[in-house]
Order: sequence, then C-alpha cells, then structure tokens
Amino acid sequence: MTLEGAMAVVYLVSVALFAIGLKRLSRVRTSRSGNGLAASGMLLAVVGTLVEQGAVDLRWVPVGLGIGAAVGVLIVFRAKATQMPEIVARFNGFGGAASALVALALFWRQVVDVGVAETPAALLGAASALTLLISVLVGSATFSGSIIAELKLRGTISGMPRLPAHAVVMAVVALAGLGLGGSGLFAAADPVLSAGLVLGLLAASLVIGLLLVLPIGGADMPVVISLLNSLSGVAAAATGFALENNLLIIAGTIVGAAGLILTQIMCRAMNRSLLNVLAGGFGAVVAGAAGDQEYTNVVSADAEEAAMVLEAASSVIMIPGYGLAAARAQHAAYELAQALEARGATVRFAIHPVAGRMPGHMNVVLAEADVPYEQLFEMDEINRDFKNTDVAIVVGANDVVNPAANEQPSSPIAGMPILNVEEAGRVFVIKRSLSPGYAGIKNDLFERDNTVMLFGDAKDILQELASELQPAGVR
Ligand code: TAP
Repeated sequence: MTLEGAMAVVYLVSVALFAIGLKRLSRVRTSRSGNGLAASGMLLAVVGTLVEQGAVDLRWVPVGLGIGAAVGVLIVFRAKATQMPEIVARFNGFGGAASALVALALFWRQVVDVGVAETPAALLGAASALTLLISVLVGSATFSGSIIAELKLRGTISGMPRLPAHAVVMAVVALAGLGLGGSGLFAAADPVLSAGLVLGLLAASLVIGLLLVLPIGGADMPVVISLLNSLSGVAAAATGFALENNLLIIAGTIVGAAGLILTQIMCRAMNRSLLNVLAGGFGAVVAGAAGDQEYTNVVSADAEEAAMVLEAASSVIMIPGYGLAAARAQHAAYELAQALEARGATVRFAIHPVAGRMPGHMNVVLAEADVPYEQLFEMDEINRDFKNTDVAIVVGANDVVNPAANEQPSSPIAGMPILNVEEAGRVFVIKRSLSPGYAGIKNDLFERDNTVMLFGDAKDILQELASELQPAGVR
C-alpha cells in the first residue's frame, strides 16, 4: 500500500473513532469510553500526520507524546474537581492558540521563508489566504478570551462594567485587525511587510478576545464557555482549510457544531439570546444588585431536627449545586438518599442545566458517587413534581433555585428557568451562610415560610442527616 493509501485509511479510522466517540459522549453511562475513543482517534491522526509530512524525526514522536501526556496528567491530577471548568476554559484557549500557531507556521514556511516578491494570496491561493486570516483571528481571540474566562471562573478577576464606547472600541479594533490581515495577505508583495501586517492581525485578535469576554460576568459565564469551545473548533476547521487537511476540517467542524449546539442549550437554559449575552453588560447589572443582601425572616435548624421531618417524608427531591461539588459531598448525598430509600421514601435528584460551573457538572459529580442514572432528572422532567413532594433538599445550590427569576422582572436573572423548589411541602437549604451564589444576588427562597436553613459544610450536614436516619443499632 502506498503512503497516500495508508493515510486515507488512518484518517478514515480516526473519523470513525470521532463519530463513535461523540455518539457515546451523549450518555453519561458511555461517556468515559466515548472520550477514550475520540482521544485515540486524535492520537492516531496526529501520529499519522507527522509520519505523512515527514517534518520531524520520528524518534521525537514518543518524546513529544511523553511530554504532552505528563503535562496533561499533572494538570488534571493537581486540579480539584471544582477547578474542572477552569481547566476546560484553558483547554479551549489552547485549542484556539494551536490553530493560530499552525496557521502562522504555514504562513512563515510558505511565504516568509520562500521570500519571493508575491502576495501571500498569489503564493498560497486566495482561499488558503482567507482561511489563514480566519484561523489567526478566531484562534487568537479564542485564546485570550479563554484565559480571561479562566481567570474569572477562578475569581482572580471579576466582571468589568461595560464602557459606553465599548461597542465602538470593539468595532474599531476588529476593523483594524481585518484591515491589517487583509492587506498583509492580499496586497503586500513584500514578505517582511506582509509578516509585519499579519503580526498586527495577531495582536488585534488577542485584544478582541479580551474585549469580548472582560465585560461578561455573573451568570452568563456558561454561555461564554460553550461559545469559546465552539470558536476553538471554528479556528481548527479554518486551519484545516488552509492546510488542505480533511481530518482537521472534520474535527474542527465537529467541535464547532457541538459547541454551537451547547451554546444554544445554555442560552435557552438562561432564557437569554446570544446577542443579549454578548451585548448585555451583565457584570455591571450584577455589581449594582449585589448590595441588597439583608435577610429578615430566616429559620434555621440542626441535622437532628431536620432528620425528624425526613423520617416522615415519603417523597424527597435533592437539588445539587456548585456547593455540593465544592464540598465533595456527592458520596454523602447518595448515602443520605440510600438511608431515605431504606425507610421507604422515593428519592430523586433534580439537575438544572447550569448548576455548578460547567455544562453537565452535576451529572459528572453524581456519576462519581455511582448515583443511578434513573434517579437523575432534568429540570423540565421534574419541575412540575415539586408541588407533590414532601421535602426538597437544596445542597449547595443558590441561583438555580432563586424564585426572583420568576417573580422579579428587574432581577439580573429574570426569565432564567429555575427549579421550583419553593412549591415542595418543606425545603431544606444546606449551605454555610447566607452568602449569595455566582450571580451575586439575594435569594428570597431563604425567607419563605416553608424553608429551613441547615447551615454548615454540605458534606458534614449530609453525613449527619444520613447517620440520624440510620436505624438505632447501625449509628
Ligand atoms: P451558586 O448559585 O453559585 O451557589 C452555590 C452555593 O454553594 C453558594 O451560595 C455557597 O453558599 C454554597 N457553597 C459553597 N461551598 C459550600 C460548601 N462547602 N458547603 C455547602 N455549601 C457551599 O450555584 P448554583 O445554584 O449551582 O448555580 C450555578 C451558578 O453558576 C449560576 O449562576 C450559573 O449561571 C453560574 N455558572 C454556571 C456555569 C455552568 S456551565 N454550569 C458556568 C459558570 C457559571 P455559602 O458560601 O453560604 O456556603
């Protein structure tokens, strides 16, 4: 078989692994193997491409693989489970940066190094020059935007109020970037001048990423993360066109399309349009709203008192939120669910689409504790059941159960669908204090007549509740 024929087979197998992997990623039960299959497809594709290009001494391949794997393993082992969203943001950024760097390397090799007095468009072809421009623009903007998203998720920087002239500044920088890139690739016939102009495009693109993400804050971050994920795919697909590499086009398109669908799901979950998120200046609204945090009518109890109510409950819904992940309380939550079931109660978990800090955060965390999938219910499936439920136990969730979303049109989260826990007979809220959640706003649920606060670390309180519910001899 010729090298070309062998590569066609390698690429075909890789694409099949991507497709099967993606299919398996759509179910929590099969997602781990799906992830493994898709990653093997990518490994096969990268090694195949290196062999085909002959650009590196093949002895370096295992060295590169070893270094890459070591860095990946170190990052993931050192990270706490609650830092996963930040890592996802960083990986999105690295994807964008890799695409932009590959496009720049192509430009350097085929334009600057060749050194003839021709425009890059004439040397590379107009289509390749155009996709190279898109790749540098989108890839670099994704990189800088993702780093800002990571710093925001980590709390290193907070939302910046949108300046009145923000849209104008954005438009000027975007036009300047396109002007520099366009003239560098389509008009400049001097390779050095062309390189300078393309580097100008790179700088403008990095600034666009910063300007795009800096003013977005509060509860809109889920949309930003999925949008950046999609953009990293677009950048990769554009690089694939510039390189005329079909596999990169396919992989980039899959990521771009999946990210776009996720962005749409996140927008719907928060009842916001994408344009509204990007243009809304949400950070400024939240900063203004955070002041009013006075609570007047809050009832609290200890685990022993709460357990007495739970002993009599026949239907219970647990609502996990970011605090459950932060406290690593998933095992304790399942332990309590099992103790309640042993007493004959029905226990279900209600999953809000933006609970936690990344899409699917609660599903991943609860899967770690082996909570059966049949016990997990999406918001739309379970919301109408709260009114027929004896007890709702909110574990480290806040924004996703805030009735202000339904009742206060001026609230920053107005219109966001929430879990209607306040309709349950009794609501226990487990959290350490009356501090606000991610959106930084007061939660009237804590003052409702049927709400009782159980103050403390989620894991400790859940373990105490489970222990109180054990038969006397087992405790
Ligand atoms: P949040 O509204 O952020 O509330 C989490 C609560 O957990 C806090 O009020 C905190 O209260 C409590 N908590 C923290 N550590 C705890 C611990 N060790 N034990 C007990 N409680 C603890 O969480 P949510 O309801 O899951 O809502 C998610 C928010 O994040 C939404 O606004 C969403 O838009 C945003 N967001 C989501 C994503 C995605 S994609 N899911 C991405 C970025 C942002 P105390 O400090 O009083 O304990």
